[in-house]
Amino acid sequence: MSKYIRAKITENAPVNKGHNLLVLSPDNIQQHPLPGQFYMIGTDFSYDPLLKRPFSIFREASGELQFLYRIKGKGTERMKEMKKGDTVNLLGPLGNGYPIPGKNLTPVLIAGGIGIASLFPLAEKLSGNVHLFYGARTKNELLMLNELKGLLRKELIISTDDGSEGRKGTVIDALNVFLTSNSHPPQADSTSNFLLYACGPSPMLEAVSKFAAEKGIKGYISMEENMACGVGACLGCTVKTKKGYKRVCKEGPVFSAEEIVWT
Ligand SMILES: Cc1cc2nc3c(=O)[nH]c(=O)nc-3n(C[C@H](O)[C@H](O)[C@H](O)COP(=O)(O)OP(=O)(O)OC[C@H]3O[C@@H](n4cnc5c(N)ncnc54)[C@H](O)[C@@H]3O)c2cc1C
Ligand code: FES
Repeated sequence: MSKYIRAKITENAPVNKGHNLLVLSPDNIQQHPLPGQFYMIGTDFSYDPLLKRPFSIFREASGELQFLYRIKGKGTERMKEMKKGDTVNLLGPLGNGYPIPGKNLTPVLIAGGIGIASLFPLAEKLSGNVHLFYGARTKNELLMLNELKGLLRKELIISTDDGSEGRKGTVIDALNVFLTSNSHPPQADSTSNFLLYACGPSPMLEAVSKFAAEKGIKGYISMEENMACGVGACLGCTVKTKKGYKRVCKEGPVFSAEEIVWT
């Protein structure tokens, strides 16, 4: 089954300063993406396919693929300039995606910044029955809040580094408070029933992994590495794990939190 897709842009609009929503209408979708999977998207017409970049599936709806992206450097600056009606080449869905929690486990999602793009479809798949911790540097960097509020049937706990929205501090601080207050019987959710899912900057993932180990909670983290091929061929995206080096694009991007060796 080919993973090469040609798609027309139906929307590429800012959701706030520095972030866009890209909506693509593919010629055909042979494989539906799972939450946590990603696509390599061509960001430049003249050099394509050299300048493909990895982006998590944000949403699949009405036969369209949606991606939420932060404008960061060369590739995403070019991506921002792409117009409605332009054709894009992409490759995917790639990677493993998030495992779905067992019935007796309460999923706790932890998103840092643009990490929300990867966790949003998991919250959707679980019909909003998740606790979501969403952290950003400042209020203006929080994305899709209305959509999240409409979707979630449990708590949305926001934190910002500067305190401009929600709790002041990191998502780990907020998570600590939450788990401490929910870990005593007879609360329905005892700590061992929680299952963590995290996506965000590497220091946040390291902190979540250490936190999960300390508290004896299982968790999954979606790792981010620069990618050239996206299909396991170039070995450019390897991370150190307790079982040797693994490719983020092929064996990941989702790994068990206890598996990664932080250096
Ligand atoms: C699995 C996964 C999912 C992601 N999902 C999202 C998402 O949903 N939304 C989002 O905003 N971001 C996401 N990212 C991050 C996103 O891929 C980067 O922000 C993006 O690649 C930045 O590209 P840039 O060219 O704008 O930035 P730059 O900083 O210019 O480039 C990014 C890096 O790619 C390197 N690079 C440059 N050229 C090449 C090349 N030809 N081949 C390989 N590497 C090159 C650069 O050296 C640089 O280190 C994800 C990353 C991963 C790994
Ligand atoms: S990007 Fe080439 S092996 Fe992962």
